[in-house]
Amino acid sequence: MKTDETYYCDVLVIGSGIAGLACAISAADLGLDVIIISKEASIAESNTFYAQGGIVARGQDDTPELLAEDIIQAGDGISNPDAVKIVAYEGPGMVEDFLVKKVGVPFSRSGEDEFEFAREASHSRRRILHSKDSTGKAIETALVDKMAEYRNIRAFPGFPAIDLLTIPHHSTNPLALYREPQCIGAYVLNNATGHVERFFASYTVLATGGLGRIYLHTTNPPVATGDGFAMADRAGARLINMEYIQFHPTTLFHKDADGFLISEALRGEGARLKTKDGVPFMANYSELGDLAPRDEVSRAMYEEMIKRGDAYVYLDIASYTEINVKKRFPMIYQRCLDFDIDIQKVPIPVVPAAHYSCGGVQVDTWGKTSLKCLYAAGEVAATGLHGANRLASTSLLEGLVWGIRTAKDIAGNFNGNKPYKESDIPPWQFPERVEEVDPALIHQDWVSIKSTMWNYVGIIRTVRRLQRAWADIGYLKNRIDDFYRRAQLVPMVIDLRNGVRTARIVAEAALKNNVSRGAHFIR
Ligand code: FAD
Ligand code: SIN
Repeated sequence: MKTDETYYCDVLVIGSGIAGLACAISAADLGLDVIIISKEASIAESNTFYAQGGIVARGQDDTPELLAEDIIQAGDGISNPDAVKIVAYEGPGMVEDFLVKKVGVPFSRSGEDEFEFAREASHSRRRILHSKDSTGKAIETALVDKMAEYRNIRAFPGFPAIDLLTIPHHSTNPLALYREPQCIGAYVLNNATGHVERFFASYTVLATGGLGRIYLHTTNPPVATGDGFAMADRAGARLINMEYIQFHPTTLFHKDADGFLISEALRGEGARLKTKDGVPFMANYSELGDLAPRDEVSRAMYEEMIKRGDAYVYLDIASYTEINVKKRFPMIYQRCLDFDIDIQKVPIPVVPAAHYSCGGVQVDTWGKTSLKCLYAAGEVAATGLHGANRLASTSLLEGLVWGIRTAKDIAGNFNGNKPYKESDIPPWQFPERVEEVDPALIHQDWVSIKSTMWNYVGIIRTVRRLQRAWADIGYLKNRIDDFYRRAQLVPMVIDLRNGVRTARIVAEAALKNNVSRGAHFIR
């Protein structure tokens, strides 16, 4: 039996992307004792780190009303009005006060006192702050540096959460049954030792990011296996809108590119989508042409590829822009050049890929979930802001806004309460005989999950495909859950268990909703 460390804090933040870090820093500012854990040895590894296009702020001829309209339009009419109002009115101010003034993110400038604003699809104004084409890296690095200044934040990279600790579920005390169900922390794997530690907290914040890796083709890094959705679901929290998976239209088509994103900001600077034989096509599908919402662009590309039997379409910036492409998009330029594509001269072969979960763990305007003492922020949370399809560059902003609001709400409610006291949560129990993990089996399970999700719960869905996905993923889930109970506890087992559960949640939500809207399109 492995030894078990126990940690205590006021706030346990699970995840260190923009939402988790903004929450941790704000909670520490408010005097709370914070622990932040993350999956990988590098604390910066997250979706946030790879964000390219930027973060919505307030453009020069912009107003909160215009931003609100654009969000609602992209969300296909079902965005939560309260969430939209908060983001449109408070969001840009938080970018200025928190990211620029407090944290010092080096956003690109057009002059000494002026920021350079970019445009992306469905935005009626230029209002996106960016750091060339590596905005996420600039934000994440600055946040991690800022966090290191706080003595009341303890960071544990390489500590994946296995499950949320809840009363009465994990308690050995039969009287716990009479207490209101509540979250009191998490069981967490220490990757370096293989031990499972108990992290107890008065409040727990899920900030675990997205789920792109449950799909065969995705822009997301390997860390995005949907852990937070699965953990919240197991703990009994409510999830909503899980059928609305956003597919980004433009990722590099190359066998070794692993879903490398070609930012929408290229289309904001004039780039156009063309068929393989050079014909622009977006005007046939939307009045907004190449700047139509992502769901419409992805479907149009899919239609063109199917119609012509092509494996990709082209994104052409070389023929349509006056700007210095290499200077404005240095990271994308270099990465494409690594594959012998000079984007200043030739069009880029692109295909859509799974990018973002518009739904998630339902939260209110302060980040509270349906489970007492559990909050959620960022991509794992569903504030309802994005409705059925997210407006470009609002995800980082939503993570920032709810990260900060969550911390404020917790600080306002905290009165020294320690609900984990007398909760009788035992140390982690390993099975008596542990089964060694065979990576080939894990790999094959992932192939099945990812290809089922891609083919049956993808850009274009049908009821029959969804029924098949639900059944196949359900079968896999039962088998993986059974294996998990016997298996040696290693990160790849945690990922697989969460990935299959999250896939099943998405497939089920899609099957239950027969109305095509936004990113959920049923033929
Ligand atoms: P993340 O940044 O994904 O962080 C999740 C954290 O949770 C990580 O630290 C991870 O280690 C941790 N974690 C996960 N599971 C566990 C676990 N079991 N235990 C412990 N820790 C765990 N949005 C925009 O607004 N603008 C853009 O320009 C933009 N560009 C993008 C480009 C790419 C390539 C991608 C993939 C996404 C982009 N997005 C963009 C979307 C945006 O980056 C994400 O939605 C956002 O960064 C999510 O932030 P987050 O804090 O919620 O999660
Ligand atoms: C991009 O740069 O195209 C991604 C922006 C986003 O996902 O909001």
